[in-house]
This record gives sequence, structure tokens and C-alpha cells, in this order.
Amino acid sequence: MIDVVLSPPEIDLLPQRDLGRSVAVAFDVLRATSTMITALANGAAGIWPVRTIEEAWSLKEQRPDALMGGERHGERIEGFDLGNSPLEYGGNVRGREIISTTTNGTIALRAVEHAAVVLAGSLLNVGAVAAHLAAEAPGEIVLVCAGTFRETALEDVLAAGMLISLMPEQPLSDAAQIALALYRREQEDLAAALRRAANGRALLAKGREAEVQWCARASVFPIIGRLREGCVRIS
Ligand code: MLT
Repeated sequence: MIDVVLSPPEIDLLPQRDLGRSVAVAFDVLRATSTMITALANGAAGIWPVRTIEEAWSLKEQRPDALMGGERHGERIEGFDLGNSPLEYGGNVRGREIISTTTNGTIALRAVEHAAVVLAGSLLNVGAVAAHLAAEAPGEIVLVCAGTFRETALEDVLAAGMLISLMPEQPLSDAAQIALALYRREQEDLAAALRRAANGRALLAKGREAEVQWCARASVFPIIGRLREGCVRIS
């Protein structure tokens, strides 16, 4: 069975949900999980997703060599090394660990940390995630759409829908059918859908179209980012 968690208020309930036999995939296409996958593809050793800025600084005390990355209101946090643009995570992150806190993406990942397997999903690695899930054949797959503040984000549901389209013959919850229908409507031009989404429009208004274009590319990185013991690493 594939289920989709469509909004942040539903994500708040996930810590109470039994995910002991589930694979959870968290999507924050614009931009947190796209940035994580880009960082891993560029050789980052791992990403530590944390909920708050305070937690990030406290983890930095234990991991002084880690880079600090993330955003609040889309902008780099004061004193941090990096913001939350995938374009900032190039050769500079090779071999480095990154402590990351973002408004929704890192919250979504941590909300399912009790699942049997937790993956960072994005359009960038959706094909690899689908292949991994097909091989693992878990009892339940829960696709978590990180959203924006308290709202559903179109691009996260679209990516969940694309993953579902790559896994035919799985029973689908109603929310999963909604995600698949959205993907089928938008599949001819994913970049156009991202530009039309509220997050895409906000990034465009800030002159960040290149980031939207980057995150709209499907299956360009054949990697799996798995959260284990607090850190997302290539699995
Ligand atoms: C988030 O985690 O809410 C987003 O990734 C925000 C952003 O685009 O930086």
C-alpha cells in the first residue's frame, strides 16, 4: 500500500503513527531534500537534519568540522555557512558533513525517523528511490510531502505522484491517487508546474529561477539518501 501525507498538520501526527514496518520518503522539492540530494551527489559525507537553529548549534559543538546550512524564510541563517539553495552545495561540500535546519523539510524527515527505513526524496533522485522501493518491497510506503509553513506544496505532491507512477500495481490510498492524478496532469512539463507553484513563484520573484529549474529535473542523480541515526547518507 502506498499512502501520501499531504500537509504539515498531518505531518504533526506522524510521530504517533506506527511506521515500524514502513518505508517513509520525505519530499521537500523546493528545496530542502533537493538540496540534500545535490549535496550527497557532490560528495557530502552526510546531512544532519535538525528541527531548530538551537539544535543545529548544539550539534555543531559535537561535530565542529560540520558545515552549517539551512534557511528561515528562504534565507541563510545568521552565522551559518550555507543557505538552502542546491546551487550552493557543489565541490565545496565534498567530504564534509552538513548540519541542516529548514522550515519544513528537516521537520518532515525527523517526523518519520521511527520508520523502518527513511529516505530523502526529490525529483532529482525519484527513479533511484522507485528502484530501491521495488527491491525492498516494504509492506507500506508512506510518502511525506513537507509543504510550506502549514500548507500543502504542489511540487512535493507532484514528486510523490511521479514516484507512484514508477511503482505500478501497488494499492493506493485516496491521497496517493490524488498525487498520481496531479503527476499525470503535469508530467509533460514538470518545470512549468514548479514555476506555477507558490514556492516556485516566490523563488522566481527573488530571481532564483535557476534553482527551480535545477529541482525540476527528474532522475538525474541515481542515489539514495537514507536517514540513519540522525544523519542522511548515501545508502
Ligand atoms: C523548507 O524546508 O521549508 C524549504 O526547503 C524552504 C526553502 O525553500 O528554502
